[in-house]
Amino acid sequence: MDIPESLFGQITVEEFLRDYWQKRSLLVRSAWPQFLSPLEPEDLIQLAQRDETDSRLILRKGGKYEWEARFGPFDEDEITGLGESHWTLLVQEVDRMIPEVSALLRAVPFLSNWRIDDVMVTYATDGGGVGAHIDNYDVFLLQGLGKRKWEIEKGPAKDEELVPDLDVRILSHFEPTDTWILEPGDMLYLPPRIAHRGTAVGDCLTYSIGCRAPSRSDLVSAYLEDLLEAGMDETPFSGGERSEEFESGLIAMELKEFAHRAIAESIRDTDRFTRWMGRYLSRPSRGWLPPEPESVITSSKLRERLEEGAHIRASSVSMVMHDRCSDGSLVLFVGGEEHNIETRHEKALVSLTGRQGLALDRLPQDKEFTDMICDLINQGYLVICSSS
Ligand code: SIN
Ligand code: CO
Repeated sequence: MDIPESLFGQITVEEFLRDYWQKRSLLVRSAWPQFLSPLEPEDLIQLAQRDETDSRLILRKGGKYEWEARFGPFDEDEITGLGESHWTLLVQEVDRMIPEVSALLRAVPFLSNWRIDDVMVTYATDGGGVGAHIDNYDVFLLQGLGKRKWEIEKGPAKDEELVPDLDVRILSHFEPTDTWILEPGDMLYLPPRIAHRGTAVGDCLTYSIGCRAPSRSDLVSAYLEDLLEAGMDETPFSGGERSEEFESGLIAMELKEFAHRAIAESIRDTDRFTRWMGRYLSRPSRGWLPPEPESVITSSKLRERLEEGAHIRASSVSMVMHDRCSDGSLVLFVGGEEHNIETRHEKALVSLTGRQGLALDRLPQDKEFTDMICDLINQGYLVICSSS
């Protein structure tokens, strides 16, 4: 697959980040010249039949009522038996399942692994779409096959009133300021909270690279949950008695200090925090776990494959990342688990969690490291890719 260096045409990545990212929409014609869709509609229909897939059908017309939502996994004829128009099939996390779809993420190298949610792929028949709506995340919409009309309202939406009693969240008021018909290889970037509507013009397939940005409340509640699960010091408060006259209704300063100290001390350990954050960010976000590969890899077979020019890469970049603790020690995070890595393997670690992946020239001659890599390949978190 020929991966373009950037998806922004004449605009440099620096200009994109300065002028558009999180601010303004950007349409790029031929962002990916001669884009060859790695999937055909039939492939997506196959994926939507798998138990582990998160898939939805939205029937704008032709369902039991307008805008009916149905949730997968689906039987093949549940999809192929639908009418010829006005429905769309949406499949999340296709990058986890199809390495060629994961490879699309190499066209957005400026996004860190933790910033990426997934690549969703949608197949829509003529007139199909999910209606006008707002998303809370940045998205890169790459047209794969056929044509899709995108309408947007410039500027962040003020009014978020929804059409009542629908299965899908559709804005009551939507007055598009811009309309484009995207063709294969065209890309539309949308920052969070820009109202938009995509409608298929004939059958079409769209790849949507969705970003994530955990909110303050997500982070705080997840960290506190982790602290509690790990078990906290159960020492009860003692003291607070008074011999002299006192306001018996007043809450004692000593208790407040006791409580405040307990909370502050529980978040002071920055390395604990670093490790928690890596586990949290790399966890399977929708509960998806990679399927185990059909055959088991051994370290000698792995070396053989790398000698042939293969690379080891994450099957899902958003589940593989690394960090450094305060003493410089290294941790690899995979699927919500942590693995300590010796500092002499830093280059290998950085390559492994990077988009290019780990090749033979960086693989350490270290049994423990190679065995760990083999285990992660055998669990499906890492994959061996033949092409560079
Ligand atoms: C799509 O239908 O391809 C994407 C849906 C969306 O706008 O979020
Ligand atoms: Co959207």
